[in-house]
Amino acid sequence: MELAYEHLEPEECSTSIFEHCGLKIDPEPARELWEKILQHKWGLSEKLGRDVGTRVACVDFIENIAHLHNDHHDTESIQLLKSLGARMIDQSIWNTISESQPPKQIVNKRIILPLTVADLARKHAVIPPRTLIFFGPPGTGKTHFVQAIAGILQWWYVEVSPSTLMADGEDRLGANLKRLMEKAGSLDKVVLFIDEFEEIAGSRDQASRIDKSITNEFLKLIPLLKSQERKNLLVCATNYIQQLDAALLRPGRFDCIIPVGGLDDLGRRTIFEHFLADTNHGNVDVDRIVSVIELFTPADIEYLFQKVRQVAFEREYENGGNYSVTTETFLEIIPEVPSTLTHEIIMEFEQNCVQYTRY
Ligand SMILES: Nc1ncnc2c1ncn2[C@@H]1O[C@H](COP(=O)(O)OP(=O)(O)OP(=O)(O)O)[C@@H](O)[C@H]1O
Ligand SMILES: [Mg+2]
Repeated sequence: MELAYEHLEPEECSTSIFEHCGLKIDPEPARELWEKILQHKWGLSEKLGRDVGTRVACVDFIENIAHLHNDHHDTESIQLLKSLGARMIDQSIWNTISESQPPKQIVNKRIILPLTVADLARKHAVIPPRTLIFFGPPGTGKTHFVQAIAGILQWWYVEVSPSTLMADGEDRLGANLKRLMEKAGSLDKVVLFIDEFEEIAGSRDQASRIDKSITNEFLKLIPLLKSQERKNLLVCATNYIQQLDAALLRPGRFDCIIPVGGLDDLGRRTIFEHFLADTNHGNVDVDRIVSVIELFTPADIEYLFQKVRQVAFEREYENGGNYSVTTETFLEIIPEVPSTLTHEIIMEFEQNCVQYTRY
């Protein structure tokens, strides 16, 4: 019997073998598992210096090496992750954010450290947050932060926006949101990111009937997500924190509400140097440029580089030689790039910080 199984094609035998043992496993995971068992047989035989036989190999594999249900669960999880469009983010993105940026310090102390130095956090009864909101003006790097968190933790990154949840009609938003939260909540090591959060959880005082029901739905889903003992994070981002429903902002729903505002000198320098590294450049006085672009967001700096690189490309195309970007190139182009931030926007943001920040 043992030999007969070994000589069968994996597709033919794997499901029936497990059925024979009283386990119902889909063909694909069954085939993968069977291949592992066969490999394990050779490994074990070699280790023991004799042919252990398939039955012994199977028992040993299932009892000691692979937990069948976990394996099956893994396959299900992978399919679920695929359906959510999950992706892994490079760890290096974390280093593109300067240590001096307040949100980075908050995220590091409140989220990354309690998860990575878990024993110490447990000793002091520090519970890592599960639900966060990032708020701040456009282009300040909210999405970038969420990706950096997923990257540094090496957790899956799943991004959704209200528009994708409404792709099959506005009235499907609630149902799609519920399904999404249930799916993501059943997975481990996932950062679920909901952008443009005000569209989902706008204040019920001002909202239409459909919006109200979505906000209500969301209020019910959060405790459900948090009650599951899993390692996952729900992160929502908004440019309009003041539009969110007050009930959502009270402690208990979101563990942290973190502002992402303008950049300090070091923050601008870090991003500037990040983009400069990939630019064909000569002598660039970084200190000078960084002081000129005081109100630039990361998005503005990125756009500045896009324009400067295009200019360099066109000039070399027209004139030949080697066009290297210099301080003068930047000073020439900067007036063409309006900064997103203004003193009024910063003032309003600072007021919001006082009113809403919590971590
Ligand atoms: N620290 C950084 N280093 C390099 N690039 C960055 C950094 N922070 C942000 N960026 C880039 O700047 C752009 C704007 O950032 P991001 O999209 O994260 O801003 P946002 O606050 O989410 O904007 P919005 O409010 O419009 O959604 C992105 O292209 C992002 O890759
Ligand atoms: Mg964004």
